[in-house]
Amino acid sequence: MSTQDPAASDVATAGEDLALLEGIRTTRAIRRLRPDPVPEALVRKVCEAGTFAPSGGNRQPWIFVAVTDAERRARVAELYRDGFHAYIARALEAAKSPDYPEAKRRNVYAALHLADHLHEAPVHLFVAGWTRRGAEQAQALFPCIQNVLLACRAVGLGASLTTVHRAHGDEIDRMLGLPDGCPTSALLPIGWPLGRFGRPPRRNVEECLFWERYDAERASP
Ligand SMILES: Cc1cc2nc3c(=O)[nH]c(=O)nc-3n(C[C@H](O)[C@H](O)[C@H](O)COP(=O)(O)O)c2cc1C
Repeated sequence: MSTQDPAASDVATAGEDLALLEGIRTTRAIRRLRPDPVPEALVRKVCEAGTFAPSGGNRQPWIFVAVTDAERRARVAELYRDGFHAYIARALEAAKSPDYPEAKRRNVYAALHLADHLHEAPVHLFVAGWTRRGAEQAQALFPCIQNVLLACRAVGLGASLTTVHRAHGDEIDRMLGLPDGCPTSALLPIGWPLGRFGRPPRRNVEECLFWERYDAERASP
């Protein structure tokens, strides 16, 4: 364990007392992060939560690469920004309109903030996975990724799920020393949050839940 780590007993108890459903409801994209280092033992703990995810045939295809070196994070951030600006340009333009919904505007600006400050996030956690018969298995990694995000919430770390690094995925995968057939699917920038956790804006479950058939009428209980 490195010297920056807290006592093993602190890590063992971190996040063990948050009720599961409240943790789920208050896990959201935390994109404003402090640059302070994160103990390696906590990174290990949130990845361990990832390893408890379900996977087809219990193949457990995930590989985590945690990047903390400042120069390597700077290069990742540069590549991320390049992909991000190509992807977000239209939304950024639209967000300037006074008619643009406020919640969406906040989301776009938070994503922009992350892109501009990605190099400052103390941990760039990449989640990669073995392909199967040549096909990417990104879907096999997302339950694992969600577990990591929930575990970050539990121990008080901020994190978000990002994928736009894939615009330069080959270069990043090479930089991480990943073998062929094991591409990264996601980059989770992790750090101590600048703001507070809270409930994210989400559709009401009544809008999404149907009984027996989507087109059937049924009053809520
Ligand atoms: C498959 C997937 C890919 C995503 N990629 C990015 C990304 O590259 N950059 C980013 O800032 N957010 C990304 N997001 C995060 C969503 O934009 C985020 O969940 C959404 O903005 C809701 O934020 P909230 O939880 O704070 O409400 C991605 C989410 C998913 C599910």
